Amino acid sequence: MKITAAAAVLMSFAPSLGFALVGNDWSFAKAPVDGLKDITFPFNMAKAPHKSGFYFAQQFNFHGIKDVGYTGLQPREDQNGKSIVHAAFSSFQAGATTKHRNCHTGADGGPGVSCAVDIKGNYRHTYNITVENIRGTTWRGTLIDTVSKKPTVIGEWTLPQGAGKIVNGQVGFVEYYTWNGQPSHTCDSLPYTQAVFNHPTTKTKGARGGKVTKVYEYGDCVGKAGYVVKKRSTGYDIKVGF
Ligand SMILES: *[C@@H]1O[C@H](CO)[C@@H](O)[C@H](O)[C@H]1NC(C)=O
Repeated sequence: MKITAAAAVLMSFAPSLGFALVGNDWSFAKAPVDGLKDITFPFNMAKAPHKSGFYFAQQFNFHGIKDVGYTGLQPREDQNGKSIVHAAFSSFQAGATTKHRNCHTGADGGPGVSCAVDIKGNYRHTYNITVENIRGTTWRGTLIDTVSKKPTVIGEWTLPQGAGKIVNGQVGFVEYYTWNGQPSHTCDSLPYTQAVFNHPTTKTKGARGGKVTKVYEYGDCVGKAGYVVKKRSTGYDIKVGF
């Protein structure tokens, strides 16, 4: 699911925006006015069951263009006894292009580019996802196991002319995408999951103080989704489901 800037503003008033369950705001206390040339979002899924269905994501948008990008992790079923970590990196921008083998045109049935990779992973490890400008209006998403330090490129896409750097401040979400497009569900049938959204960082000169500033429940299961959030020094530990 994508949360548009307008929707993000309306979020606290809207009764429902699909099956995103928890939102978060992130921003840097200080950042250059023209934006960030890179950003790193660390996630930890140590307590998440190894089952498909949830998406732990952070969004970002760019100066000079309209539509957002997002990146994040999804748990997967084990394969041959090995844990699988799925990482996604997408743009909803019309006119975005890609030649990367992990990517294809289109995002959630609309314009844009979607990239994804599955790796054999270790859920106890924190994974960083770095979004960085590599040239012109081309951006790369890289998954980094912070324990082994091993990087895996998720994908690369090129935004249309006029796209600038990353705007300081956006939102993220926990979504149960299994329910997307389903006419009905009961909130108490939401499976349990848990993930830590750590504070973002950047190497951009003049930027500092990256934080997940706020975490909140939203959508149509507010108060009924088993939501528990705990603030940690590194970010927020978010639990939903039963
Ligand atoms: C992961 O991100 C954190 C926070 O940005 C950073 O301190 C750490 O060095 C990164 N780890 C790796 C292996 O890149």
